[in-house]
Amino acid sequence: MQKLLLIASYKRHIASNHERMFENVFDWEHLPHLHPRTFSSISLLAKGKKTLTLEAGLWPTPFGLKQKIRLQGCKRKRTWIVRVLSGFMTDLIVRSRVSYERSDGFDVRVDFLVPFSRWYYAPLGPALKYSYARLYKEDVAMMTSRQHYLERKPKPKKTQAEHSVLIGKASDLKCPHLFTFQGNPFLINQDQGKWIAYTAHCPHLGRSFKDLKIKSGKILCPWHGYEFELASGLSRQSKCRLPLAPKIISKSGLLFAIVPELESEKQVKVTQDPEGGEMQHGLERGIIDCISQS
Ligand code: FES
Ligand SMILES: [Fe+2]
Repeated sequence: MQKLLLIASYKRHIASNHERMFENVFDWEHLPHLHPRTFSSISLLAKGKKTLTLEAGLWPTPFGLKQKIRLQGCKRKRTWIVRVLSGFMTDLIVRSRVSYERSDGFDVRVDFLVPFSRWYYAPLGPALKYSYARLYKEDVAMMTSRQHYLERKPKPKKTQAEHSVLIGKASDLKCPHLFTFQGNPFLINQDQGKWIAYTAHCPHLGRSFKDLKIKSGKILCPWHGYEFELASGLSRQSKCRLPLAPKIISKSGLLFAIVPELESEKQVKVTQDPEGGEMQHGLERGIIDCISQS
């Protein structure tokens, strides 16, 4: 058996669960998007039951450094190992394991090991530790946010009243503005002078869209780099598709979300003066009368 030299170790507590951790370990696509200061590219070369072989571009570098790496993980043993097969730091082994599990999360220990013949990698130990501290910080933010997304309350049942929802006064909205329609969270925003509604979470793994800008009718999710066209819901990078969003109509300075079939403005009738004194308190009471097509 090959003798290994430990050149650095990194330990941290992660306030999440090991399900999220292993999901993250095998989620190779996020590397250049969530960690752009570390990875410039990633491609999958082979996939086994518990292994992935990847080619990663490292960033920042003036030389376009690449690494071919193999990831091997065992959820039952709570361990995962990355080996650099070729490229920058060939033969480096990064061995990670969950060292202690508690109700509030778990501890993880990462050991950076090299064969004795590669002893000259030792001065890079502190840089590896620093780089992993940054990677984990970014990963933990994603795991936490994803866990919150998965723990959302179940959707309430659709009701007749949800054929239309009054969102608010156009001049008062701070965009993107969150609203609920038929039990699902949506955002309303302006794009190229038009009001548009779209789902509040990415259909891939649930990244919130609340802090993202729309550019020319498209939204780019920063977790895995999928870009969605809001009008069609399609993405060139994946088969994921945005769920159908309500249509937004503007009437007397008010914005309404309506089921897409009820496109005609004539079908929505304002029954209260939008400039009236009661407006600020009356929004959630539903001051429209929506005439369903059926
Ligand atoms: S969560 Fe993966 S692309 Fe949005
Ligand atoms: Fe990561």
